[in-house]
Amino acid sequence: MAGNPGARRRLRLGVLCGGPSAEHRISLLSSRHIVEGARDAGFEAVCIGVDMAGRWLLYGAADHLVAADDPRTVALAPGGRPVVAAPAAAGGQLRPLDGRGAAVALDVVFPVMHGPYGEDGKVQALLEAARIPYVGCGVTASALCMDKDHTKAVLRAAGLPVVEWVAIRRDETERAAPERLRDRLGAPPYFVKPANLGSSVGISRVDRLDAIGPALALAFAHDRKVLIERAVRGRELECALLGNERPEASGVAEIVVRGRHRFYSYEAKYLDEAGAALRLAADLDATVRERIRTLAVAAFRVLGCRGLARADFFLSDRGEIFLNELNTMPGFTRISMFPKLWEREGLTIGPLVARLVELALADRPAGEATEPAREPQAAVTP
Ligand SMILES: Nc1ncnc2c1ncn2[C@@H]1O[C@H](COP(=O)(O)OP(=O)(O)O)[C@@H](O)[C@H]1O
Ligand SMILES: [Mg+2]
Repeated sequence: MAGNPGARRRLRLGVLCGGPSAEHRISLLSSRHIVEGARDAGFEAVCIGVDMAGRWLLYGAADHLVAADDPRTVALAPGGRPVVAAPAAAGGQLRPLDGRGAAVALDVVFPVMHGPYGEDGKVQALLEAARIPYVGCGVTASALCMDKDHTKAVLRAAGLPVVEWVAIRRDETERAAPERLRDRLGAPPYFVKPANLGSSVGISRVDRLDAIGPALALAFAHDRKVLIERAVRGRELECALLGNERPEASGVAEIVVRGRHRFYSYEAKYLDEAGAALRLAADLDATVRERIRTLAVAAFRVLGCRGLARADFFLSDRGEIFLNELNTMPGFTRISMFPKLWEREGLTIGPLVARLVELALADRPAGEATEPAREPQAAVTP
């Protein structure tokens, strides 16, 4: 196994979780699943919980959570030791903030956090500066994929299909004038969303041009930049990616929004247990499925992703396929789409974590690597 330096000692994986975000609890649930995977893979796991104030707290492997079985109340346990990540003579380490006690060297960090802070390049930059290898996309790809306007611009420039959109800043609301929107996007419905967020926070569906004002106000409450998009009537499909230069694409899954929800909103995602059904094997024509897998790999490469991502698509009632977004750190709970899709391909959580660690260690810049980089087999080439 790459990164396990012979029999000297087990690889030590730091699971960095929580974070000051709306998905703090989802991240904690994900961390538990990753610790299980790390154990299966034969790694030593330590957990670093990031609290809502952004403090890094070091725990042992299994003692970092309270109410670990309840998605509504799971929280970081008291008693974590405040630490900072810092470079050391070889690699990186966590140093106690109070200066007492030993530093802990880490071989790899798995930053399983979602949204701003953990998934947008900030934590990735911190880990780079501390010289600690980490799982997942680097700084640039993380930041790029967090900004829906920039993501779409890059995808479109590469000839990949995205839904027509307008991005506006606070001082440009004249660009959202009804006639201008109709010219650019056609008649409503539209989706209005903050450029840099996730979990459907701040997103509304607008059915009439005179209802755009409140939707813009809501989105601008969360961000300086807002997207207005043509709404696609159709299905929502997801494909998981794993690899570095030539990622492997999983099968294609479907999100079926149910009940009173008009789209995959925050409520449908997290609050209403019956809000959406995940279908791991979407019922699709083979050609559509292969096209989606090919587009997912192409988008991953164009955006400069590494390690993993989940590509989300719309399939319109007329059969058009659009890339919606790439999530560079998808959910990892036991019931999350990303690990479920790989489980279906025969990779349970242990081998999945092992592969991600291997990919993180294989991608170190020349001169840093201690073993030759390995590239997994590509199932799909764009
Ligand atoms: N252009 C669109 N057409 C149809 N539905 C959309 C569109 N944009 C967003 N949605 C709906 O809103 C949900 C959240 O939007 P998305 O862009 O994926 O933001 P987030 O990053 O918060 O997941 C989608 O899963 C989908 O249900
Ligand atoms: Mg989404």
